[in-house]
Amino acid sequence: MRSTGKIILIAASFFSVVSCTNVTEFKKDDTERKIDELLSKMTLEEKIGQMHQISIERNIEKHFTDLQNGNIGSVFNTVNPIMANQIQKVAVEESRLGIPILFARDVIHGFKTIFPIPLGQAATFNPALIQEGARIAAVEASAAGVRWTFAPMMDISRDARWGRIAESCGEDTYLTEKMAEAMVRGFQGDDLSNPASVASCPKHFVGYGAAESGRDYNSTYITERQLRNVYLPPFEAAVKAGAATIMTSFNDNDGIPASGNPFILRTVLRDEWGFDGVVVSDWSSVTEMVSHGFCSDRKDAARKSVNAGVDIEMVSGSFIKHIPDLVGESCIDMNTIDAAVRNILRIKFRLGLFDNPYVNTTLEDSAYYHPNHLAAAKQTAVESVVLLKNEENVLPIRSDKKRIAIVGPLADAQHDQLGTWVFDSEEEKTVTPLNAIRESYGDKYSIIYEPGLTYSRDNNVAGIAKAVNAAKQADIILAFVGEESILSGEAHSLADISLQGKQSQLLAELSKTGKPLVTVIMAGRPLTIENDLNVSDALMYAWHPGTMGGEAIADLLFGECSPSGKLPVTFPRMVGQIPIYYNRNNTGRPARGTETLIHEIPLKAGQTSLGCNSYWLDAGYDELFPFGYGLSYTKFNYDSLNISSDRFSENDTVKVNFTLENIGDFEGTEIVQLYVQDKVGSVTRPIKELKRFDRITLSPGEKQNINFSLPVKELAFWNLDMEKVVEPGDFVLMVGPNSKDLMTKKFVVE
Ligand code: NOJ
Repeated sequence: MRSTGKIILIAASFFSVVSCTNVTEFKKDDTERKIDELLSKMTLEEKIGQMHQISIERNIEKHFTDLQNGNIGSVFNTVNPIMANQIQKVAVEESRLGIPILFARDVIHGFKTIFPIPLGQAATFNPALIQEGARIAAVEASAAGVRWTFAPMMDISRDARWGRIAESCGEDTYLTEKMAEAMVRGFQGDDLSNPASVASCPKHFVGYGAAESGRDYNSTYITERQLRNVYLPPFEAAVKAGAATIMTSFNDNDGIPASGNPFILRTVLRDEWGFDGVVVSDWSSVTEMVSHGFCSDRKDAARKSVNAGVDIEMVSGSFIKHIPDLVGESCIDMNTIDAAVRNILRIKFRLGLFDNPYVNTTLEDSAYYHPNHLAAAKQTAVESVVLLKNEENVLPIRSDKKRIAIVGPLADAQHDQLGTWVFDSEEEKTVTPLNAIRESYGDKYSIIYEPGLTYSRDNNVAGIAKAVNAAKQADIILAFVGEESILSGEAHSLADISLQGKQSQLLAELSKTGKPLVTVIMAGRPLTIENDLNVSDALMYAWHPGTMGGEAIADLLFGECSPSGKLPVTFPRMVGQIPIYYNRNNTGRPARGTETLIHEIPLKAGQTSLGCNSYWLDAGYDELFPFGYGLSYTKFNYDSLNISSDRFSENDTVKVNFTLENIGDFEGTEIVQLYVQDKVGSVTRPIKELKRFDRITLSPGEKQNINFSLPVKELAFWNLDMEKVVEPGDFVLMVGPNSKDLMTKKFVVE
C-alpha cells in the first residue's frame, strides 16, 4: 500500500464549485431575492403544492380547482400545447400567487424525430452529435409545451438482461460522463430561459443499472467505493454541465431505497457537488418504500423521503397528503420544506416561466420532423451502427450483386425500429430498411422481399421456406432480425437474450443456401448471437435506430459511407457470463487463455484447484466482442506510440502521441481509444479504464498524428481511505481500436 505522496483532489473540486458560483453571483442573487419574496407569501399548503407532481393526459378540467388552490407544482404527460396553455392559465391567472406550472415528459431519444436508442447513441462515441440530437429533441418537445425532460439516463449497466440497458450509455463510466454532459447541454441549450430549452433530469440516482440478475427494480449492493468510482461520476459530470434536476432511482442499495437515502441526496449531491437544482422522485418511488419494507406506511414514506432530500414527489401523492401533519408533528422541519420549494422555484425562474409561462402554439408544424432534424437523426443512426463481422468483404454490396433478397421481421417494422420510450412520434414517419433500399437503390438492384417471420417472437415457421426460396433466387441476402421495441426498456428484462422466436432458425436456413448472408440486428440490448454470427458472412448491429434508421442502414450496406460505431458495452458469448465488462479487476488467478474447456476434461478426472484460473468451463474466459469493438470497410494501422515522459508528478499532463493510417480502400472514421491501468493500488484496480477517445476520419492512404493530453489528476480514484487520490506507482497506458487490441507504454507517477 502506498499512502505517501497522495494527491488529494477534494480541495480542487471544491474550489471549482466556488469559482463557478462567483461568476453567476449577481444573477443568482436576483433570483434568490425573488424566491425569498415569494416564499414569504406562501402558505404551507402552497409550498407543498409545489412539491406535488401529477400526470395529466386528458380531462384537464378536473384538476382546475387544485390548480387554483396552488396544489400542483408540475405536470407531466401533457403534450398538447393548447391544453398546456389552458392548464397554465389557471395556475398563473387564477391561483393566489400565480406560480407557473412546469410541464415534463419522458423525451428519451427524440420527441417526434426519433434518434437511435441511447445505447446506440453511445456507440457513436460522438458527444457533439449527441448534443445536437438532444437540442433537436428539446426544440421539438418545447414546441408542444414541454420544458422538462426526464433524461438523460446515466445508469452504468453491465447486464444485458436488464431491459433498461437500452436507455443507458452502456457499461463505461467515462463514456457515460461524456454523453451525460453532451445530452445535458443539448437539452438545456446555452440559456435555460430560452423557450426552446428543456431542463434535463439525469437519472436514476443511483445504481439502478446494477439491479441484481438484471431483473428490473431489483436490489443493488454497490459499495461506497464502487459508487464513487463507477456509478456517481456521470451524475457529477451532468451536475457540472448544469443539469437542472436529478431523478432518484427505484432500487434499494445495500438496503436503502434511493428516495430515502440522505447520503446520496444530501451528502453527495448537495454538500459535495453543490447541486442547487431539483430532486424529483421516480414514479411512486416514494410510496414504494412501503413495499420495500423501509417505511411503515405512506406517511412514513413522505417523512423519510422529504428528510432525505426529495423535493418533488412524482404522482404518488403522499407529500400533499401527509406533509401538513408531519410538519405539525415536528417530523419535518419547516426549513426543509422551504429549501425544497426554493429549489423548485429556482428552476422555474431559470426556465423563465414567470416571465413567459405560455407556449407559442404555432411552432409545432415548423419544428416537428424538420429536414435538419431528420438529417441529424440519420447521421446519428449511421454513426451508431457497429459492424461486427465482414467476411471476405461481402460488404459493402457490390454492383454485381444485382438480385437482393430482403428477409426478416425487422426489415419493414416501422414501430419496432423506433425502440423503447417512444410516445410522441408517428410511426408512419419511420423509414424502414426495406423502404429505403427500394427508394434509393431499387432502380439499380432487383429487390425480392420475403420476411419469413412476421415479428421477432414469431414461432410460426411456415414463412421460412418462402424466404429461403427468395434467397435462392438472389445474389445476396439481407436479413433483418432482432427484437421488437417492447422487449427492452422499463420492466422488460429477459433471462434469455438470444434471438427471439425462430429467428436463429431463419438465419441458419438462409445460410444453407450458400448465398452471402448479411445479418442486420436491430435490438435494445446486446444479444447472445454467437451462432447467428457463425452462420452469417457479415453482421451489423444497428440497435433500435429510430426514424431514419432505414436510410442510415441502406447507405451503410451500399457503401455510401463506412460503418464507424464501436460497442459501448461488452457482448457476452453466453448469458451466464453476465455481468461481463472490460474494466473488471484481475482476480488473484487471471485466465491465461490456456484453460481446459469442458470437452477437454477427461472422464473421472480427479479434484483439482491448484493451477486453476478464473474462467467458465463452458464459455472460456472471453466475451464475444469486447467493449469498444467495431469494424470499418477500411483498415486502420496504429503505430509509433510515444508518451512525453516515463515519469510524471501530480501536476503533470501525460502527452500521448501515435500515428493512425488508413491502409484500406475506403474513406473511414476510426474511434481511437486510450486506456490506462493503475498497476498496484491500496485497493485493487481495474485492468484498464477508458480515459480518452476521438473520432478520426481518414482517406485511403492518409496517415495522421494523433495527440491526447491526460492530466495525471484524472488518474485519481477513491482509495482505501475513501479519499479521491492519485496513488504514485506504475501505470500502463494503452492505445488502440478497442479495449482488447492495444499498444502499450509504461509510465510512473512519482
Ligand atoms: C418511471 C421510470 O423509471 C422513469 O425513468 C420515468 O422517467 C418515469 N417513470 C416517468 O415516466
